[in-house]
Amino acid sequence: MTEWNKSSWRTKPRIQMPDYQDQSELEGVEAQLSKYPPLVFAGEARKLRTELGKASRGEAFLLQGGDCAEAFDQFSANAIRDTFKVMLQMAMVLTYGAKVPVVKVGRMAGQFAKPRSAPTETVDGVELPSFRGDIINELPFTAEARKPDAKKMLQAYTQAAATLNLLRAFSTGGYADVHQVHAWTLGFTEGEKAARYREMANRLSDTLDFIKAAGIDSMRSAALHQVSFYTSHESLLLEYEEALTRVDSTSGKWLAGSGHMIWIGDRTRQPDGAHVEFAAGVMNPIGLKCGPSMTSDDLKVLMRKLNPLNDPGRLTLITRFGAGKVAEHLPRLVKTVREEGANVLWVCDPMHGNTIKSATGYKTRPFDAVLREVREFFAVHKDEGTVPGGVHFEMTGQDVTECTGGVHAVSDEDLSDRYHTACDPRLNASQSLELAFLVAEELTKLRHRPADAANG
Ligand code: PEP
Ligand code: CO
Repeated sequence: MTEWNKSSWRTKPRIQMPDYQDQSELEGVEAQLSKYPPLVFAGEARKLRTELGKASRGEAFLLQGGDCAEAFDQFSANAIRDTFKVMLQMAMVLTYGAKVPVVKVGRMAGQFAKPRSAPTETVDGVELPSFRGDIINELPFTAEARKPDAKKMLQAYTQAAATLNLLRAFSTGGYADVHQVHAWTLGFTEGEKAARYREMANRLSDTLDFIKAAGIDSMRSAALHQVSFYTSHESLLLEYEEALTRVDSTSGKWLAGSGHMIWIGDRTRQPDGAHVEFAAGVMNPIGLKCGPSMTSDDLKVLMRKLNPLNDPGRLTLITRFGAGKVAEHLPRLVKTVREEGANVLWVCDPMHGNTIKSATGYKTRPFDAVLREVREFFAVHKDEGTVPGGVHFEMTGQDVTECTGGVHAVSDEDLSDRYHTACDPRLNASQSLELAFLVAEELTKLRHRPADAANG
């Protein structure tokens, strides 16, 4: 076996990556990116790993969400703020409602490259390469737009850096201060879930007033004024990832400097493939998407490769089977993990197994199916005695109509109103909040299990 290095993925079979026509331009971009500062630092990745380790033991809960694909033309401070705001609201519902610390990770500041079900797309007899995300090519159906362009990596880096800069400012500059709990709610004030949120926010404000009246100076507690917010994306475009990989001077280990956590998609998790090879050698927390085709044998090999030292928090298994299929697939993977004695964090992605084409032709996800998969995930872990440690979802703070259902009952006909996603359909703010309430209920049930069940 050859030693790992940041380029060793190049010796392995690669799929879902573009063939750049202009090699010298590609090399120029890689050289330039290699000189740019990393976006994240090793100490942050280590801290996230510790927090994910806690989540794997049920001492915290992972909330991982954001766009399916970040887009160059939808980049704005308001869009980032609104997504961040919804994440804060969801976290408040879980922290206050279910009394669990929440680890907040955005699908942000690097989530640009997309795997596709087919390498090409044919329209009216014309065949062109598929759109693979703004970091690779462009959406319009022309030969020019669909040509992979390495220079787009530089624009993606710039957008990621600016996004992260704003997220850091929001996290520590006062916006995320828990005393602002009412301000996060602005924008969607209607509906039963918004009312429940307001009610919870009122109780939280009351508690903060009590703390103050009791003479405890909450103004001095950093935990109430700041949040830790991490970034993540699918580590798909390996030229970009390699160029941002740096050695951590304190530990001598390699860090993927493109984001705090990276994950391997369900389509690119071949144990001997390029994507697994790259992830195996970096110190970041790694996510592994597990769909219905994940076998026990593959999972065993993947766990040994990706987490040979069995560190808690290193490996997150993000299961995405589809509503109605969790009981069929998840127990097999739980058994494998148990047999291996592996430390993993179990997370539910209720989005990617529930994508359908609506009667009106739009790619959508019935919100009912999303909620059902989450319930099934909790039910299987309860039966197995394992820890349901987080959810992974696609959402936006914008008031879109991309997933059907929810309290505002988005219908098939409504999809065309505000369908803006650059890739998969996302939950809007009120659907995200509804998801958070469901998760809080499930977590509360787990905590208040009858003593005999808890001990049995
Ligand atoms: C995604 O998370 O956007 C994605 C493509 O997921 P998966 O690899 O699970 O299909
Ligand atoms: Co997606």
